[in-house]
Amino acid sequence: MSEFIGQFHPLLVHLPIGFLLLASVFRFLLFQGKEQFRETLSIILILSIPSTVFTAITGYILSDGGGYASELVFKHQWSGIALLSLTIVLYVLHFKEVRTSLERVLWIVMLLTLSLTGHFGGGLTHGENYLSLGTDVYERPAITDVEEALVYQDIIEPVLAQKCWSCHSGKKQKGELRLDGKDWILKGGESGQVIAAHKPAQSELYSRLLLDKQDDDHMPPDGKPQPTKEELILIQWWIETGGSFDKKVKDLPKNGQVSLALHSLQPKAEYKRLPKEVKVKEVDLKAMKTLQDFGIAISKVGAESPFLQVSLLGKRLDKKTLESLASLSENIVWFNSGGGSLDSASVEVIRSFSNITELNLSGTTSSSGFQWINNYDNLVVLNLSQTKVSDLDLSGLSKLKRLYVFGSDLNKQKLIQALPKVQIDTGNYVVPTYPGDTTVFRKEDII
Ligand code: HEC
Repeated sequence: MSEFIGQFHPLLVHLPIGFLLLASVFRFLLFQGKEQFRETLSIILILSIPSTVFTAITGYILSDGGGYASELVFKHQWSGIALLSLTIVLYVLHFKEVRTSLERVLWIVMLLTLSLTGHFGGGLTHGENYLSLGTDVYERPAITDVEEALVYQDIIEPVLAQKCWSCHSGKKQKGELRLDGKDWILKGGESGQVIAAHKPAQSELYSRLLLDKQDDDHMPPDGKPQPTKEELILIQWWIETGGSFDKKVKDLPKNGQVSLALHSLQPKAEYKRLPKEVKVKEVDLKAMKTLQDFGIAISKVGAESPFLQVSLLGKRLDKKTLESLASLSENIVWFNSGGGSLDSASVEVIRSFSNITELNLSGTTSSSGFQWINNYDNLVVLNLSQTKVSDLDLSGLSKLKRLYVFGSDLNKQKLIQALPKVQIDTGNYVVPTYPGDTTVFRKEDII
């Protein structure tokens, strides 16, 4: 019932505002000597008293329901009470026909109090900054390099903003808790602090998120957007490492689970498929023809381009083809072994491809292992899926953006820790194919 009455407050407030503004206009006309308006002013003042009283009562009932910024409620409530008192005083003075300069000053004070009360009230319904021109929509900070990200500002705050601020910020403070700033968070809520540094289990800001959904204390309340598994891991990690507000990701220790969760924040890598600002000699067309005749898919990446894409289609290379391949080593930028096995002579040639950006060794075995891959300065995409490789140092690949390891024995968590900026793909994906990957069946191959 009280909730029902309380909700009329935002509607009712417009009555006293109207009456008091109108009363001020008529008081001004009286001041100008227009005595015929005396009666009108009496009527308006008589109406403004009960409407102000009733508005105050509904306002009190509404604030009692809680959930509003307490400081703002306090200001609004007391300016409202001051306004009511002033109205009563002005009413009495009017009927006693007191017209002194003090009385006129009181009218002005009343108008100021009226606008203040209205302003605080507006802050309660529309949020504290409702008059500012800027939007108070939260803008999620963009993460370009997760290791350089600020743990609180770039990772934790966006979660709180999305999942908690609707009830715990300047707008509303359910449980007397605000989560929209360091000082508020450290202050805690109704039942005290919500973070115990290094102790996530004792921190209400975290422990409440783990409670059963049916539990009344579960946050956010059932039916509201819930944090994801990764977000929970990251909040736990943040509190466990001390709940810092200024540390960067790279400053804090992390276990495999945290690394994985952090990795999910790394934006999908954009990469350039061709080397930039590299001058290479023209393609040796004779060498290219030799390779084509051998059954290797080789073509320019563009009609006018000096760069080549090559797929061995799993073929073993002989001395002559290796020589041709070596003479094109500057030009080859995309290389696909197409499975099969590479002997040491082939590896010697392949590792000399100085401008290679994409290397696909999916399903390939190599008698020289794979450590030689580490020498490519321009490599951005590396596919090691379905290879029998279990341990590999790839830290020399400074430009690597994407690594496919599906079906290999490489440890994903170890890779993520060693290569935090690389997008590591372990799932069932479609291996990117080049136009040259089309398998050509030729009569002599089949027979
Ligand atoms: C839909 C509104 C709503 C959302 C969203 C919400 N809460 Fe709450 N929260 C409440 C209410 C209501 C209370 C007070 C009742 C209670 O203590 O359970 C509360 C209380 C709390 C308290 C206890 C404060 C104290 O000192 O008693 C914590 C901690 C808390 N919330 C954390 C969170 C976190 C963290 C999020 C976001 C992940 C969140 N809440 C999202 C409504 C919400």
